[in-house]
Amino acid sequence: MKAHLFTVAAIGLLMTAGGANAQPTLKAAFKDQFLIGAAVNQRQFTEEDKRGVPIIKAQFNSITPENVLKWELVHPRPGTNGYDFGPADRYVEFGEKNGMTIIGHTLVWHSQTPRWVYQDAEGKDLDREALLARMRDHIHTVVGRYKGRIKGWDVVNEALNDNGTLRQSRWFKIIGEDYIARAFEFAHEADPNAELYYNDYSLENEAKRNGCIELVKKLQARGVKIHGIGTQHHNKLASPSLAQIEKTIVEFSKLGVKVMITELDVDTVAATQRNTSADVADVARQTGGDNTQAAGLPEDIQQKQAQRYGEMFALFHKHADKIDRVTFWGVTDGDSWLNRPDRVNHPLLFDRNGKPKPAFDAVIKAANSQTNPILP
Ligand code: GLA
Repeated sequence: MKAHLFTVAAIGLLMTAGGANAQPTLKAAFKDQFLIGAAVNQRQFTEEDKRGVPIIKAQFNSITPENVLKWELVHPRPGTNGYDFGPADRYVEFGEKNGMTIIGHTLVWHSQTPRWVYQDAEGKDLDREALLARMRDHIHTVVGRYKGRIKGWDVVNEALNDNGTLRQSRWFKIIGEDYIARAFEFAHEADPNAELYYNDYSLENEAKRNGCIELVKKLQARGVKIHGIGTQHHNKLASPSLAQIEKTIVEFSKLGVKVMITELDVDTVAATQRNTSADVADVARQTGGDNTQAAGLPEDIQQKQAQRYGEMFALFHKHADKIDRVTFWGVTDGDSWLNRPDRVNHPLLFDRNGKPKPAFDAVIKAANSQTNPILP
């Protein structure tokens, strides 16, 4: 029965796509709703990954760099020769060549930032003014280089704790609370036409969501240009709930900013289902392996994941007027950061051979759903 419904949906799409041989694609299905993005790695934007690249070109109209614009990669050393733009340049060229909306990720973050950033030549902590000057140089150099080419930037990533207070990062401790506002101001100076976003995980949890709302209101009161909130969505099979996701989209939209789903995946492994924080360090600390899915995704979980993706996209479809972009954190299951040597995972829409999974069909179907049985 399910398979039959998917077939009907696919035929509908073929007809709207207008070609008897056309396959449904994500970007065509959601063309009038929001952009569909993928985080891409170096083997993909240099076109070495022969399996992933055709999928990216066919399915996605936006890209985010998985790593190459993070501070430790684009600016590994101090000084004027400390930048390494080689890979980032290739990333931007790939996006331009394929007519994609190119996203920059990320300018100011506590993680994947070298220790020297916060220190002087003797290894002593910088003072507020010196760290602000370093932040300004970084943002002006990186944003300025891609001015007019990168459409939007995750200016600050993960500044909030789970309880909604500000994370005690080195940025916060040395500069103070206004490091966030200053980062946005520097980015706006460097490219006045770029869209500027705040990006974080677990924003569906009430305390953190409220902390984010408060933060954005403060920035707006100061006159800071902030155009969007990125909610990462490293999700589990059952959490966060659809009600939490919906509330978050609606509340953020009331702030007058665009909502972006920026790092979507659905973890399938049993051992990690209870960890509802997407902090990279937390996930790595998870004890024990779970290789129950090493030989493949069991059919029951495959179906659960498809249903979960279908429900989330029905919700995104319902709120398409508030959502600007939905970006997956990877292309095929084999690419995902959620794989570890002792924990094979299957979090995305394409399997390790690049074949669309039942979750893909469920997402396509949600694009066309006029009414949705699970949503009022
Ligand atoms: C965070 C970051 C991303 C990425 C993912 C996991 O969510 O924003 O850049 O590092 O973790 O890989």
